[in-house]
This record gives sequence, structure tokens and C-alpha cells, in this order.
Amino acid sequence: MCGIVGIVGERPVAERLVDALKRLEYRGYDSAGVATVLDGKLERRRAEGKLFNLETRLQAEPLAGNIGIAHTRWATHGAPTENNAHPHFTDGVAVVHNGIIENFSEIKDELIDGGATFATQTDTEVVAQLLAKYRRDGLGRREAMHEMLRRVTGAYALAVIFSDDPSTIMAARSGPPLAIGYGDGEMFLGSDAIALSPFTNRIAYLQDGDWAIIGRKTAHIFDLDGNPVERPVQISSAAAYMVDKGNHRHFMEKEIYEQPEVISHALGHYVDLIENRIDASAVGIDFTKVTSLAMSACGTAYLAGLIGKYWFERYARLPVEADVASEFRYREIPLSKDAAALFISQSGETADTLASLRYCKDEGLQIGAVVNVRESTIARESDAVFPIMAGPEIGVASTKAFTCQLSVLAALAIGAGRARGTVSPEEEKRLVRHLAEMPRIMSSVLNSIQPKMESLARELSKCRDVLYLGRGTSFPLAMEGALKLKEISYIHAEGYAAGELKHGPIALIDENMPVIVIAPHDRFFEKTVSNMQEVAARGGRIIFITDEKGAAASKLETMSTIVLPNVDEIIAPMIFSLPIQLLAYHTAVFLGTDVDQPRNLAKSVTVE
Ligand code: AGP
Repeated sequence: MCGIVGIVGERPVAERLVDALKRLEYRGYDSAGVATVLDGKLERRRAEGKLFNLETRLQAEPLAGNIGIAHTRWATHGAPTENNAHPHFTDGVAVVHNGIIENFSEIKDELIDGGATFATQTDTEVVAQLLAKYRRDGLGRREAMHEMLRRVTGAYALAVIFSDDPSTIMAARSGPPLAIGYGDGEMFLGSDAIALSPFTNRIAYLQDGDWAIIGRKTAHIFDLDGNPVERPVQISSAAAYMVDKGNHRHFMEKEIYEQPEVISHALGHYVDLIENRIDASAVGIDFTKVTSLAMSACGTAYLAGLIGKYWFERYARLPVEADVASEFRYREIPLSKDAAALFISQSGETADTLASLRYCKDEGLQIGAVVNVRESTIARESDAVFPIMAGPEIGVASTKAFTCQLSVLAALAIGAGRARGTVSPEEEKRLVRHLAEMPRIMSSVLNSIQPKMESLARELSKCRDVLYLGRGTSFPLAMEGALKLKEISYIHAEGYAAGELKHGPIALIDENMPVIVIAPHDRFFEKTVSNMQEVAARGGRIIFITDEKGAAASKLETMSTIVLPNVDEIIAPMIFSLPIQLLAYHTAVFLGTDVDQPRNLAKSVTVE
């Protein structure tokens, strides 16, 4: 994940900026850079690889200036080269960026038509070029910043400095976090409190849609309409510096809200957003030589795999054998040598999953690992490693790892389909465009549904049993919703295929057991509505999680209806994960359980 820092200081900033970047190294990166303003000019130093290389560059070519911005880059568009490293420059503007500018292609084409020349392949340079254009058109710095923010779409955190202004940094947040640090006569900007801890513990977090003008003594914060807004300055506890909860009460909450940011990094690794296609070099298995796929994992990772099964079968036309690893490892499944096997594991250390991997390896299969820890045992024993780039997941209940696993599996399934000729170039472009919209849609959903999920959780916290129903990819999602709720609130919950209701669970229906129905308006919608009618006819209370089309189509009386945006089937599981994660989280908070460390659970089950 990229890291951003900035200082509006009264003394040289370059070295302090690089020190602050060191506190963001945990986020992962492959290049870094720093820029300052001095005597009406912008100067920068950048380097590939670790921060040591940037420090060496600065020792050889010191950088003066009392105002600057710096960045650690996790390559999303364009290779991890010095030329693609941030800060990006043009005509008196320097920018550092975290996230994805979704509409950068069209803006880039317009600017090139207007005579701009681009030096890099990155989406970030479009921001610098757009600001430079607005300045050339006569807009002031503040107007140019505001105009740019109204033009770009996507999930981003930005920091900007102008050569003709040695006293302010401009910042903006829409998705990835950004915090302002209040010093004594100096002001700071950082991706989180950890980055700012060397300078101050007085922190104000920007909210989505905020942008700010940060001077030496204070900051002015505005909403996207340009109205001034207030953000509380809080004292960041020393402990938070170790691994920062930001302005969240629990790591689980922070990780739920990190999803737009980390998914944009995961996508950046697998998707070429310039050509709207899957980056074939990231699909480390030759799926043209594969006749079937085995998938195995545990818990939430297994449920991500079950959703992936639907995608590999539908888009790559590959038969998929999926099972929980504790069963898979002992079934001695007859697997053909031209099968491939995918193992999904956040920790990369889960004993049952590792045992299943070794069974398949002994059978001579190609082994792929979808992991969050690249140097884990499961990754080391695999032929192809597919990192999910979720960053450290501290909460025992998996949230951002789950949606990153889904994003990677979706990219792999599309890539496999493309390689096998079962997905056309046009279909690939269409699907990839939907993947690219995810961070922005997730950001807006998280901000819009939060109050409703909190009040609904108050009701749920009084229940003893809850049933989740879904069809298609919403069926594994129903099981994931049940798993989230039971593992952190200790309320008994089950996830069921909605079509199975009549084969047993309907006996449970009464007014005491809420039924949570997950149903985007897809090809299963009508069938799921009839299941809801069966529940309602027996006095069952329904919590309906659907989209705008579904809410308009269903006239059923419900306990509550959560309405999400209409999205394509390929990203519905990721978007519909958000309400079920927040529902489980807030229910557990009401019940006062240990949300981040639920009883009896470990983050990684390294024993059978
Ligand atoms: C998920 O919320 C649970 N914490 C648990 O089911 C977890 O997904 C499972 O133990 C697998 O862990 P892994 O992804 O590290 O292999």
C-alpha cells in the first residue's frame, strides 16, 4: 500500500520526510520519492527499491526547502521504476497519490489533445497535469485544486505542492486514509498516525470527500462543494503508533474501512487499467493446460474460494472441486495430473490448508496460493503465488482479506477465461471496468450504510439465532455473514442456500429468528423473493440486503431493507460483503464482546 507524508515546516524537511516514510514501510512499497519547494522552484529526489536507496540519493544530492511531500509507492499503473515513482511533476505542480484515479485515461487523452506531454505511465501524473492546466487557464491554486477534485473519479488520497507557494500543502481524501498533524509552528500530513508520530500526537483525520489547505500554523478543511468543515483534533495514543487504529475503536472496524484502499492495490497488481484487461504476467498458472481446478481453504478463506468456484466455472468453464481443507486433506480425491490447485489463506500458515496443498503437490498438480503473507509457508511451497495486498490484518475476524481474496480470484478467473478463449476481449474489458469501479463504490457504500447497520445491530444483538440466505455467489456470502456474526458476537447463525429453505430450515422460522436475505437483482432474484414470501408467510422477520432494482421490485414487508447500488454480478459479492461485515461488527460492539480477539479464536490456526 502506498504511503504519503508532508510537512509545512520552519526548517529543512527532506530528511524528516524520509524518516516518516520509514514508519510506513509496513504497508509495502517498491519505490519512493520526496519533493520540496525552494526559491519558487520544485525539486525532487526519487529511487527504486527500499528507502535506503532514497537516503543514499539524498546524501549525494541534498534537498533543501522547508515544505515538502514524500511517498512510498506500491506500483499499480506502470512498472516500479524511478520514472514512475512519486512525486509526479509538471509545470510547477508536484503530486503524491495513494489509490486509483478511475477516469485517468479519458482525462489523459483530453490533456494530450490539448498539447500536454506525459512523462510516465501512471494515473497520478494526470492529477499534476490537470492542476497545471487549470493554473495555465488562470485559476488560483485553491480553485485549481477544487476543479481537479470535481473532475477526477476513483478512490484516492492526494498531497500537492505548488512551486509558487512555499507555505501550503493541499490534500484530499476519497477512500484511502489521510491525517493532518498539528505541531508547534509546523503542520504535517500523513497516511496514518504512525507516519506522524515523530512530529506530533495531535491528529485530525480527513473524512471521505474532504480536501484541505494546510499552512504552517493551521489547516482549513472543506467538503467537495467547497464548504468549510471541522474535523476533531484528537490525541493519538502511544500504543496506536505501533499499529495504528486511526480513528476507529477496533482494528476490525479500521480494516472494514480500509477495503477501498487495499482493493485498489490488489487490483493494481492484476489489472491493466490502461487497456482494461487482466495483466497476463500476474496470472502465474498456464490455464490453457489445465482441465480442472481443486480449491481448498478454511473458514472465511474457504468461503472466498466457494465464490471463486462460481467464477472459474462460469468464466473459465473449468470444473472446480472445492472443499474445506480439514476434509480435503483426507478424502484422497483422485485428481488428474493436468489439474491445478488453488489454496487460499490470509496467514499462509493454516495447518489443514498446508496439508491439502502437500497432498496435491504429491499428486503432481500445479499449485497456486492466494495469500496475504508472501513469505508464508503456503506461499513458499507453491508454484505460483497470488498476493492479495491487504496489508496486515490484525482483527481475528477476516474482512479486508476476504474482499481482497475475492478481487484476486475474480481477476484470476477472468484471466483464465481469457487464456482459454471462454472470455472475449470485449467481455474482459467490461468485467475489468467493473472491477476498477469497486474502490469508489465501496467507499460510498461504507459511508452511506453505517448508521442503518448500527441501529439494525441493536435489534440483532437481542437475538439468539439468525439465518442468512442467498443464491449463486450470495450463498457462500450468506455463510460468510453467518460466520462473521457467530465468531465475534457469539450469536448462533447459519448461512443456507435459499433454495434449501423448504428442505429443513423453514421449520425454524418464527418471529424470534431474523432471516437475513442477500439478494442483488440478478438472475436468481425472483426465486429468492419467493423464498422470502415463504418466510414472511410464517411470521418470520426479514432483513433484506438488495440493490436499487431489487428494492423497487420487491413489495414485501421487511424488518429492514438495506439498499446498495446496482452493480455487476462480478463485484456484487465484494459490495454485499460490506453490510454483513458492519452488521456483525456493530452487533458485537453492542454485546461488548472482544471484537478484535474473540474468545477461543486465533488469527492463524497452525495446528490441526
Ligand atoms: C475468518 O473470519 C476467521 N478468522 C477464520 O475462519 C479464518 O478465515 C480461517 O482460520 C483461515 O485462516 P487463513 O486465511 O489464515 O488460512
